[in-house]
Amino acid sequence: MRYSAPRGTRDILPGEIEKWQHVEGRIHRICELYGYKEIRTPMFEQTELFVRGIGEVTDIVEKEMYTFADKANRSMTLRPEGTAPVARAFIEHKLYAEAQPVKLYYIGPMFRYERPQAGRYRQFSQFGVEAFGSMDPMLDAEIISLAHDFYVSLGLDQIKARINTIGCPECRPRYQGHIKQVLSGRLDQLCRNCQQRYERNPMRILDCKNERCSGIASEVGSIDPFLCDECSEHFEAVKTSLDELSIPYVIDPAIVRGFDYYTKTVFEFVAEGIGAQDAIGGGGRYDGLIESCGGPATPGVGFAAGLDRLLLAMEANGIEPAVSNRLGCFVVAPDKGSRIRSACLVSSLRRLGVSADMDYVGRSMSRQLKHASRLDARCVAILGEDELARGVTQVRDMDRGEQWEVPLSEAASRIADFVRSVSGE
Ligand code: HAM
Repeated sequence: MRYSAPRGTRDILPGEIEKWQHVEGRIHRICELYGYKEIRTPMFEQTELFVRGIGEVTDIVEKEMYTFADKANRSMTLRPEGTAPVARAFIEHKLYAEAQPVKLYYIGPMFRYERPQAGRYRQFSQFGVEAFGSMDPMLDAEIISLAHDFYVSLGLDQIKARINTIGCPECRPRYQGHIKQVLSGRLDQLCRNCQQRYERNPMRILDCKNERCSGIASEVGSIDPFLCDECSEHFEAVKTSLDELSIPYVIDPAIVRGFDYYTKTVFEFVAEGIGAQDAIGGGGRYDGLIESCGGPATPGVGFAAGLDRLLLAMEANGIEPAVSNRLGCFVVAPDKGSRIRSACLVSSLRRLGVSADMDYVGRSMSRQLKHASRLDARCVAILGEDELARGVTQVRDMDRGEQWEVPLSEAASRIADFVRSVSGE
């Protein structure tokens, strides 16, 4: 029996993982700059949380959740997204009693049972931020600005937010009624999915990828005339803030998002050159979520980036993060008798903060040197029986080929100094 990773999942091996670590480094940095603190929540939650939080009539809840009964027959679901779990934690730990806004971020795997294709996986990683406890439109702008700066810090400097507003439960039904009215005579021209959406969630017709549907939907027009004063003023203030902060954006009435929790501002970021699955991030305001999950009425706004797609976008744009993964020192032990002393030298180097390694599969001296090159070692220390007898080791600079001898008693500190000097530390 040969096993393989389940469909829609993948292994990230050394060679690729460095790019992930680079991106994760940028995430921690940007969140530190913006004052967001990390939170880690479980990989699975009670199914009900997602049904209530995301909404019963959404693609995710209807078709895409990994739901299972645990041994006590409780319905559990692998998290398809991070907002509802973070909202649950916010309520459970009474974070509403702390100084507001509470600003949190997370990185981790999400699970959706979708049809796998380029850029779409069943297990994928998200970086998300959530800010609770403020209605201020400047906070919406802060989140869009954080997302923008994050993408730019990774080299995607042409990125532009696509923003929209979807109103609130007070004004949205008026727009939904309008959509139904405009499309009522053209139902038979819409795709099967949109025909179902017509009754249950007509706004989602606006972001259908089917060309015929989007052509017809473009006749619907913007939500603007239907917005209540509060939603209209909020959106104006978000745009003004973005202008003042010099964050580039376009207004796109087709951005409606696929979760029921959104209110007012919604936005997405799209990348070029990665195929149909080109949304590399999205988010919005969700002023009713905390309450619908059983907490006190608390507004919120957030964003999540898909890291798998982000890495595809970086590759498509020719962005290769300069990741240095060089070994500090490879200790070459050509004779059996010098292996223990070599292991001691390796150990001393590591304790001095220098990455070090040695041979564990019985290679000859020349093969050990070749292996050191493969590991991109900055230097090797050769410690044979002859060197041992003389109480020295030979150090070779692998870039310049120069070689010198140092007393064994000082070897670790002298090698550490050398490695630090050539690696610019
Ligand atoms: P979302 O738009 O569903 O939003 O997901 C955010 C990002 O996750 C997408 O833009 C995409 O890059 C990535 N993504 C989604 N599904 C997949 C998949 N199957 N394979 C690969 N990448 C995928 C949310 O999840 C909201 N919780 C965002 C949010 C946070 N809103 C407010 N706060």
